[in-house]
Amino acid sequence: MNTEVILVDKNVNKEETYTQAVDIIRGGGVVAFPTETVYGLGADATNGEAVSKIFEAKGRPSDNPLIVHVDSKEAAVQCADSVSDKALQLMDAFWPGALTLILKSRPDLFAPNVTADLDTVGIRVPNHPVALNLLKRVQLPIAAPSANTSGKPSPTLGEHVYHDMEDKIPLILDGGATKIGIESTVIDMTAEPPVILRPGNVTKEQIEGVIGTVRLSAEIHGNAPKSPGMKYTHYAPDAPVYLIEDDNKLITMAIGHLQGKGKKVAVLSPTEYPEADYHFPLSAETLYSSLRKCDMTDADLILAGVPADRDDNDFMMNRLEKAADHKWFS
Ligand code: TXA
Ligand code: MG
Repeated sequence: MNTEVILVDKNVNKEETYTQAVDIIRGGGVVAFPTETVYGLGADATNGEAVSKIFEAKGRPSDNPLIVHVDSKEAAVQCADSVSDKALQLMDAFWPGALTLILKSRPDLFAPNVTADLDTVGIRVPNHPVALNLLKRVQLPIAAPSANTSGKPSPTLGEHVYHDMEDKIPLILDGGATKIGIESTVIDMTAEPPVILRPGNVTKEQIEGVIGTVRLSAEIHGNAPKSPGMKYTHYAPDAPVYLIEDDNKLITMAIGHLQGKGKKVAVLSPTEYPEADYHFPLSAETLYSSLRKCDMTDADLILAGVPADRDDNDFMMNRLEKAADHKWFS
């Protein structure tokens, strides 16, 4: 399959581009599109055959449910069986935006492979003009996981999507770099108090400011995953990633030690390390890009510098720990 890439960042209202994307999705095909977090790989969430193409293109395990995207709070309420007052308050406070609500799903609306046969569904209204334009025109709920090959870092640029999805999907809407760079916060609203399953740009404190106490999945379940997706390896470049305290002396010593053993070292850090074979920046916006850049080098090992005053519940730390599979350099 030939993969067409259309640049949409400068002309979000280009009618024929949207018509093409809408035709593909209504016809049961897959289109990649930008959101404010990361790029999504979208298909009609009511069409099981269409949704199976997403799993196939990503190589995603079928027990990992997908997030459904809609264009409004009203559309989200239509997709759910019952919606609590707290859920409605979060929709008003954070949508459109980087918050996914797990709600009881309306029976028989979604294809079973969207929800991995669960009776709940993850829903959000993305805050990106291209995603919203597409959703408004298609008038269907769009199931869309991040548009990367399963296990690889999520795509924050159209090029990343093309790298992973070339010849696997018919169309990529390239809207340039995504603003936030890390996937949405996922909160389970079917639990009381609600539970944050995946930390993201919308923080626990911001959520508690609207609905009061919520819990973090890590506090309740330890390492046992509640969100099905959390048990799989994530965001991993080819070379192993090790976390290391971002201390100049420590990292310089580690580089020297590794290079002494003939290893090539890539460092991810806000600070420059000229001794390293490769250095890439590290922030929410650059994390996934930098991990992907490591794959274009011959680095044997990646050191990811984390600040000494880090917050273990921070979304950056959460993604870094996954990319490193919790390994620390010592
Ligand atoms: O920012 C985002 O959320 C991006 C953009 C494209 O919207 N999407 C995204 O989707 O990150 P995905 O499929 O890569 O991650 C979905 C996460 C997974 O960890 C999955 O297990 C969890 O949400 N999830 C989805 N439905 C769920 C459900 N019903 N119950 C529990 N967890 C669910
Ligand atoms: Mg993903």
